[in-house]
Amino acid sequence: MNKVSKAPLVISTTQDLIQYRDSLSKDIRLGFVPTMGALHLGHGSLIEKSNQNCDITILSIFVNPTQFNNPEDLKKYPRTWEQDLKIAEQCKASVVFAPSYEEIYSDNYRYILTENSFSKLLCGAHRPGHFNGVLTVVMKLLQIVNPTYAYFGEKDFQQLSLIKSMCESFFLRTKVIGCSTVREEDGLAMSSRNARLSPEGRANAVNLYKCLITCANFDEASAFLKPYYIELEYFEKHEDRLYIAAHVDGVRLIDNVAV
Ligand code: PAJ
Repeated sequence: MNKVSKAPLVISTTQDLIQYRDSLSKDIRLGFVPTMGALHLGHGSLIEKSNQNCDITILSIFVNPTQFNNPEDLKKYPRTWEQDLKIAEQCKASVVFAPSYEEIYSDNYRYILTENSFSKLLCGAHRPGHFNGVLTVVMKLLQIVNPTYAYFGEKDFQQLSLIKSMCESFFLRTKVIGCSTVREEDGLAMSSRNARLSPEGRANAVNLYKCLITCANFDEASAFLKPYYIELEYFEKHEDRLYIAAHVDGVRLIDNVAV
């Protein structure tokens, strides 16, 4: 399908989104890219992948409070609505779904989706309740949008794995597609949180990736990062991937690579 660049349709209520979804023909391939906004080229790559495989792409922008275990982190999360709309248009998203908290959590988070194994490791071990928030919001979004394909980044590999297995476990028709991590030229994984780094912090942050590809264990990684004022949170191998989380300038960054 030839897609001409035009401003995406912005929808902010679940009712309108469901109505839009129901108006689409049954055989349409609908792609979905859930995000928390502060869009960058990593998000852009997901939208482009969706456009390659689908007729229509819906992008959601919703800073999901239930996945933030740290209120300060939620408060400081970058919000760049105008810029996001421009990127959504450039990447040719057809619809931007931007619901309010009340729209998504009309139950006031009474119903919570919990995974009891992998979600307790890595980020889950350090951010209590984080994956409950992620899985619950993604399940809600998938129920509203009912996409053919949903696109998630390998940048958050633990999240991607959990969402994939959640969709299988609950027999959702949506197929989850993993997309490779988009990096800055020096190797730093693109992240909305990178915008919160000072120039020195940004220069030091590249060592997260360097550490992933050179160090063998936590102690080695911790010593490697110390001169750059980076505080290591975890450095762990799980199945065939190596995962890292660390604090740079008080900003928590994560990354992972296949080993
Ligand atoms: P957010 O951090 O905005 O990321 C949205 C999607 O973009 C996720 O699938 C994430 O893995 C992907 N992404 C982020 N940086 C990327 C990069 N450098 N390369 C490739 N993909 C990248 O992840 C979330 O939001 C939330 O947890 C969400 C799934 C939306 C639920 O609230």
